[in-house]
Amino acid sequence: MDLIVTADYAALSRTAADRIAETIAANPTAAIVAATGDTPMGAYRELAARRRRDAIRTDRLRVFQLDEYLGIGPEDRRSLYGWMERAFLAPLGIPAARVVRLNGTASDLAATCRAYDETVCAAGGFDLAILGLGPNGHLGFNEPPTAPDAPTRVVDLTPESVASNARYWGDPEEVPRRALTAGMEVLLAARQTLLLVSGASKRAILHRVVDGPAVSDVPASLLQRSAGVTILADEAAWGVNSAVGGG
Ligand code: GLP
Repeated sequence: MDLIVTADYAALSRTAADRIAETIAANPTAAIVAATGDTPMGAYRELAARRRRDAIRTDRLRVFQLDEYLGIGPEDRRSLYGWMERAFLAPLGIPAARVVRLNGTASDLAATCRAYDETVCAAGGFDLAILGLGPNGHLGFNEPPTAPDAPTRVVDLTPESVASNARYWGDPEEVPRRALTAGMEVLLAARQTLLLVSGASKRAILHRVVDGPAVSDVPASLLQRSAGVTILADEAAWGVNSAVGGG
């Protein structure tokens, strides 16, 4: 894993946008799985600004939804698809036909999950995974413990994830208790991964991801065994006095 520590969130977002733009320039039809959550929003805004200046072309990407709450349709304000649509798909002009959804209201959820993994496989795997880090080390909603070969599936959210997701919707009662998540296996197999981590509240878990053993109890630590992983952290997340390791 490579680790890049930036001075602040703005620099993290610009650096992430640079990396994503390079991937898009080299492969305009790249298969990208893109997280919601707060952390990647600055990078998405930066990419949208570059698109408005015609500096990047994004309309031929294939975009995969990372996670979704169970029983929540796209019109619900809590829908992660809706968030992705507002923050990523619409500003980057990506047509719905080029998006692979995780539908939390599908009647046959097992079939939805199987179809998702088959579609990723048919696309040749993810070219790029843009991920955030859960406070308990989750990726998407791969909650601890998650095996490295876990498929795309329905999961129960841990109390910690319910609590952390409550900040998006204002009230823990608003947070659904179950979700769909892209599986650990397809995420770990991505050819390139950007793990974006910002803020002092992530410092302890980030150090477990980077310095600790690769274990299922910290799902993001399993990225240590994957190729092409870059962690982008700001100083608040990494700590100004911590040595930069990685490699
Ligand atoms: C959420 C989501 C993840 C997200 C992570 C970090 O629970 N399931 O997809 O990446 O937690 O979110 P944030 O960037 O807001 O800290």
